[in-house]
Amino acid sequence: MSSIVNPSPQPRTAVRGRLRAERTLGLAESVIREMTRLAFQHGAVNLSQGYPDFPAPAAIKEAAKRAIDADINQYAITWGAKSLRDALARKVSGQFGWDVNPEREITVVCGSTEGMFASFMALLNPGDEVVIFEPFYENYGPDCALTGAVPRHVALRPPDWSFSAAELEAAFNERTRAIVLNTPNNPTGKVFTRAELETIASLCRKHDVVAITDEIYEHILYDGAEHISIATLEGMRERTVTINSLSKTYSVTGWRVGWVIAPPELTDSIRKVHDFLTVGAPAPLQEAAAAAVAYGDEYYRELAAEYARRRERLLGILSSCGFHCYRPAGAYYIMTDISGFGFANDTEFVKHLIQEIGVAAVPGSSFYSHPAAGAQQVRFTFCKQEKTLAEAERRLQKLRTSRRKSAE
Ligand SMILES: Cc1ncc(COP(=O)(O)O)c(C=O)c1O
Repeated sequence: MSSIVNPSPQPRTAVRGRLRAERTLGLAESVIREMTRLAFQHGAVNLSQGYPDFPAPAAIKEAAKRAIDADINQYAITWGAKSLRDALARKVSGQFGWDVNPEREITVVCGSTEGMFASFMALLNPGDEVVIFEPFYENYGPDCALTGAVPRHVALRPPDWSFSAAELEAAFNERTRAIVLNTPNNPTGKVFTRAELETIASLCRKHDVVAITDEIYEHILYDGAEHISIATLEGMRERTVTINSLSKTYSVTGWRVGWVIAPPELTDSIRKVHDFLTVGAPAPLQEAAAAAVAYGDEYYRELAAEYARRRERLLGILSSCGFHCYRPAGAYYIMTDISGFGFANDTEFVKHLIQEIGVAAVPGSSFYSHPAAGAQQVRFTFCKQEKTLAEAERRLQKLRTSRRKSAE
């Protein structure tokens, strides 16, 4: 999507030059983060970027303060503090009965963003193909561009965001080296079912392909949806890279602590990239993370229940204003269809929403390789406190009125 702020970026040839690497020239600013910037600029209620505007749990903050006071302020072990790797191994063992070796299979990184990028750098050569479901979380495109990997997109189609097994199969060929999965999914809220994961797994086994799976919304699930890690399916453990982070589960998106679980050989390569890219994630926050990932089931139940309430609240607000909402089964976003409003495209609509209505959201086209596919979709997030949602509701009433007027 062209930038709302800067609708006609300079043509490639004008910026090509000796001072900048080719690989960065095609990249635009993240649309999601651009929307947050615009929200501040126009004083809009920010329902665009997925970060909570409510406090992080007191216990995790206390643990971080204790770690700083205890002078855990120098580099941690490059692949992660032992306390955190051990705690993570215990967590996945309790959660999935998955026996992971913290010495050889876990790397602590600076958020899942680094985890994904380091995995691409470690596992893919330029020209290797990567299967990516779309709509997709927007970082995966730049991850490909920066590493020279070639994305092959497979459609998830509303209303249930299912995919065609035949289309998926057709996307695999002798150049395919990896598939990127994101479940629960941003932006759709889809939670991949066991049957869907079995289909994906069988193609990975058949074509000797690695599954790189982003599971940062694993605990944010609704209506009995079950999160299944593809690594736990038969024959997948040795070919799966599982990426996760503190950001969403513990409401600390600014801490930048994530982790990658992968078989030893893949971990070796991922650790090398991580070492030279960032050296390590913030040491005191890793200690706090070790405490957080040991929370009992009650914490995760409460987290999901809170988000279920917020989901209902935003579904109610958006539906009453004329959006067609796709009900999410997980994560904390609502993808909507805006065709009822009669705007030419999502960008025009979001511009109107931010500047005239005072609410920021993300244009759907930013989640697609071909903007036209998302031209009548807009994503809202509900990881916000009641005060924020109530203010958004008040402002969105104007949309209702303007819609009625245009219909008259
Ligand atoms: C699917 C997905 N992956 C990764 C991230 C970034 O995660 P982190 O803060 O761990 O880098 C986000 C943030 O919104 C996301 O939605």
